[in-house]
Amino acid sequence: MHRTHTCGELRKTDEGQEVTLSGWVSKPRDHGGVIFVDLRDRYGITQVVFNPDIKDFDEASKLRREDVIKVKGKVNNRKEGMNNPNLDTGDIELIVSDLTILNKSLTPPIEVDEHKIANEDARMKYRYLDLRRSSMQNNFVTRHKAALAARNYLNSEKFLEIETPLLVKATPEGARDYIVPSRVNAGKAYALPQSPQLYKQILMASGFDRYYQLARCLRDEDLRADRQPEFTQIDIEMSFAEQDDIFKVCEGMIKSIMKDTKNIDVQIPFPRISYKESMERFGNDKPDLRFGMELTEVTEIVKKSDFSVFKDVASKEGIVKCINPEKDIPRKEIDRYIEYCQSFGAKGMAWMRVTENGLESNIAKFFNEDVQKELIDAIGAKPGSILMFIADKKNKCNDVISRLRLKLGEDLELIDKDEFRFAWIIDFPLFEWNEDDEKWDPAHHMFTMPQSECMQYIESDPAKVFASCYDLVLNGVELASGSIRIHDPTIQQKVMDVVGFPKEEAEERFGFLLEAFKYGAPPHGGFAIGFDRLVAMIQGTTDIREVIAFPKNKSAECPMDGSPSNVDQQQLKDLHMKWDILKKS
Ligand code: AMO
Ligand code: AMP
Repeated sequence: MHRTHTCGELRKTDEGQEVTLSGWVSKPRDHGGVIFVDLRDRYGITQVVFNPDIKDFDEASKLRREDVIKVKGKVNNRKEGMNNPNLDTGDIELIVSDLTILNKSLTPPIEVDEHKIANEDARMKYRYLDLRRSSMQNNFVTRHKAALAARNYLNSEKFLEIETPLLVKATPEGARDYIVPSRVNAGKAYALPQSPQLYKQILMASGFDRYYQLARCLRDEDLRADRQPEFTQIDIEMSFAEQDDIFKVCEGMIKSIMKDTKNIDVQIPFPRISYKESMERFGNDKPDLRFGMELTEVTEIVKKSDFSVFKDVASKEGIVKCINPEKDIPRKEIDRYIEYCQSFGAKGMAWMRVTENGLESNIAKFFNEDVQKELIDAIGAKPGSILMFIADKKNKCNDVISRLRLKLGEDLELIDKDEFRFAWIIDFPLFEWNEDDEKWDPAHHMFTMPQSECMQYIESDPAKVFASCYDLVLNGVELASGSIRIHDPTIQQKVMDVVGFPKEEAEERFGFLLEAFKYGAPPHGGFAIGFDRLVAMIQGTTDIREVIAFPKNKSAECPMDGSPSNVDQQQLKDLHMKWDILKKS
């Protein structure tokens, strides 16, 4: 028998018991002829003690970090003062009588130690060692609990888990596809799914009513801390459901997940904020609601000033927004914030200090007393604060000032890291204007239903059309998004006409969905939660690689297995292909 207990199990009450433990050697130490080893497994650490009088002592003295051993011995209560309050098993130790070496380890290239975390590259290359650390193991315990909580909740709500294919026809989600050439059909290829979107909608047409899947999604896009080429969604679709029904399911599921993973009671329903309001108040559509510092637009007021920078922007369809950290900030730091804004493309960042006598700074002279008063009133500013301003085209201004808000929130320590602030962002526009291509693009995806009240503007004024779609945000991160789908071919056609999606291309790319909807598709809608993002945030990080067992690095490589790797000639031949690399990146 390899073990009678795990390394996290033994307590004072087990004193005197003969037990067997197996695990990894961590921190072997020689204390004047007695050898102490922290024996580690998934469940914890137990201190095991080798006295010089045992037959295996020689072997014990040669133990090295990460050797795998089995020890038999007697549980001993540690002497008063020798307990280790940091270990669950810290009141006891195991006095070893027999040692078996199950496997020796080479000197590990990175340490399995929470206090000595290796650099990113080494962690990725020796992922199996990095994953031995208790904080990494905890991440996967939480991930498992979150998945289980989701499944239990969805099962109780009559959802069926149904798998959809991984070799698919490209799904138009907006990122690049990963392509898999077909051996059997020369010159043809499958795509890996960017999400199960079309298939879950077809499942609704098939009458499954309530579908979910912990679905793997694959997108060839540029990577960031919260983006991986391969990630997991809790993907959901419901028939005969309206927005409120869908929100209720999502809220109930999140509540269960938060309870079962961290015993946190989140308040539901989540607040709802319109896209327009979110842009106005926070400058983006994924507001971090853990702190205030909301923005004030002052375009109309500064038009009355003599400050040409603001007046020019305001007269050229730009906007001017102000943020008030309600705090004085030293000049040197202001300069750093100016640089910060410029690094995101701002032309500058103007500032003024609020005093008892009005505003002060090198630009205050361009604002007469009345304009100063109006600004101070609109912003609700008090003496002792610095006001910061960004003037630019609407999108740029919002982008920069929303980043400045987050930076100030971090720097001024306004964010409670233990708080979870969820909110729905609703009433998105259906289309967004693509300035590069001078055309309308779908703001979510092409299968999103326009809101019924604005259906009449689809052809005449697309900018006026709101979508029945929504995002769920958590602490400044987009956690989920979804929509009510179009199930009526006439509306679908109108939407495709606006975005200039040719009928033939629609037929070619997702004609099977359009065809399926001709035979009685129910009204339906759904959403998908970024599962990696959710688990990461529950664990207090925004880097989703911490909760993915084998993630890719920023260059979309896996340093551990060496993928992507060369393809051998025979494989290419089987696929009827020949590499013709135009440019090596
Ligand atoms: P969307 O593309 O918005 O919607 O994706 C839903 C959620 O998935 C997460 N996510 C990602 N997580 C990690 N790495 C990525 N590369 C990545 N891309 C997206 C985000 C996002 O909110 N089919 C629709 C959903 C629907 O309409 O039902 C979809 O995939 O948290
Ligand atoms: P300038 O006239 O370029 O010397 O700028 C005067 C002040 O206005 C400086 O403090 C700049 O940082 C600031 N400024 C310049 N352009 C902008 C802008 N687009 N938005 C906000 N402040 C700006």
